[in-house]
Amino acid sequence: MNLLHWPVRMHIASVGVSKSCFVFSLVFCGLLLLFIPALQPAVRQVDLPQPRRQIRPTQAVSLHHNGVPGVPEHTGENEGKGASIDSEINRSYKQGVDPHRSQERGTFPGRQSGKLSASTSHDLLELKDIFIAVKTTRKYHKSRLELLIQTWVSQAKEQTFMFTDDEDNELRMRTGVNIINTNCSAAHTRQALCCKMSVEYDKFIESQKKWFCHVDDDNYVILPSLLRLLSSYHHSQDVYLGRPSLDHPIEAAERVKSDGSMSVQFWFATGGAGFCISRGLALKMSPWASLGNFISTAEKIRLPDDCTIGYIIEALLEVSLTHTRLFHSHLENLQKLPTDSVLEQVTLSYGGFENRRNIVGIVGGFSLAEDPTRFKTVHCLLYPDTDWCPKLKPRLKHTGPLQH
Ligand SMILES: *[C@@H]1O[C@H](CO)[C@@H](O)[C@H](O)[C@H]1NC(C)=O
Repeated sequence: MNLLHWPVRMHIASVGVSKSCFVFSLVFCGLLLLFIPALQPAVRQVDLPQPRRQIRPTQAVSLHHNGVPGVPEHTGENEGKGASIDSEINRSYKQGVDPHRSQERGTFPGRQSGKLSASTSHDLLELKDIFIAVKTTRKYHKSRLELLIQTWVSQAKEQTFMFTDDEDNELRMRTGVNIINTNCSAAHTRQALCCKMSVEYDKFIESQKKWFCHVDDDNYVILPSLLRLLSSYHHSQDVYLGRPSLDHPIEAAERVKSDGSMSVQFWFATGGAGFCISRGLALKMSPWASLGNFISTAEKIRLPDDCTIGYIIEALLEVSLTHTRLFHSHLENLQKLPTDSVLEQVTLSYGGFENRRNIVGIVGGFSLAEDPTRFKTVHCLLYPDTDWCPKLKPRLKHTGPLQH
């Protein structure tokens, strides 16, 4: 019997549940309406964009006050030109770093304001905007520098600067290139190399150019590729581009931010393949890199010049190296580069004395004896109209009205 009545009771029960549900819903909705204004601020807070980390300027300032890089130390070679450059760096340093100012970039007075007003994500970059530093030494003026001057440097004379350790008025007069005597030691020591990098940095800051690129005197710079690569970034962004020589980050004792009991890991771009730094980032490096500070930073961590650059950027400024395979040093197997990709690279190199066969596998109008580094061959493929390039084929190109 009970079983027969069960569906009926079930029906009644469910009506009861529905009723109480309805009443409960009404009460709940009423309460909800009452509480909505109270809930609103909490909801709005969640929607707010997270404030951006602004550690860099603060960090720079606090480290400054900890007295580590401190007041710029004037090394011998920088004496006498300190004050004016210093104030220029300070001015641009503030412009580059201060996050509040960077929002009103378009309103800056001075030479950069017009170009920065457009909020494009990348540069309308020209070759003249790039500062190219070539590190060399007296010993290689004849053998290495002359080849560079004959080839790629001839296409970028105004913005390329050779950083060496002696006067060479003859070379300067004959070729018209920029040669800077750093007055650094000609020894291939860490101190001498860091001394040159320090002068390179200061000259770049002085130059007002948008990009700093450092190469060695055994690098060929494929200028159209360099321009294309840098054009995909903006010089006011933090950009550090290069090729790591190791497949893992380097570890060093932290002696700038702490007492050396802690260690830091960071990537660095190998100097032998060349690397580039945007102006925005270079200005932030100023407390550890300008006016001789680079030498003291390198002394503190006891690492070579290119490692010190990586240390300042990755470990101190917390900006990551953008790894690129377009830069090449003599430490790689250059023959492994596919022939059809050689002209797309940004820098090339060659093996030199120890490894004469380590060259890019590209052929053209020169024999190996005539062009052991392959730089002339590369150059003539890029600039076939150069007067000393072999004229291989008549080029099917009309440059003007035909004349009989
Ligand atoms: C090197 O020394 C010469 C002579 O004292 C000086 O004129 C020149 O400016 C110095 N170079 C640098 C880069 O400081």
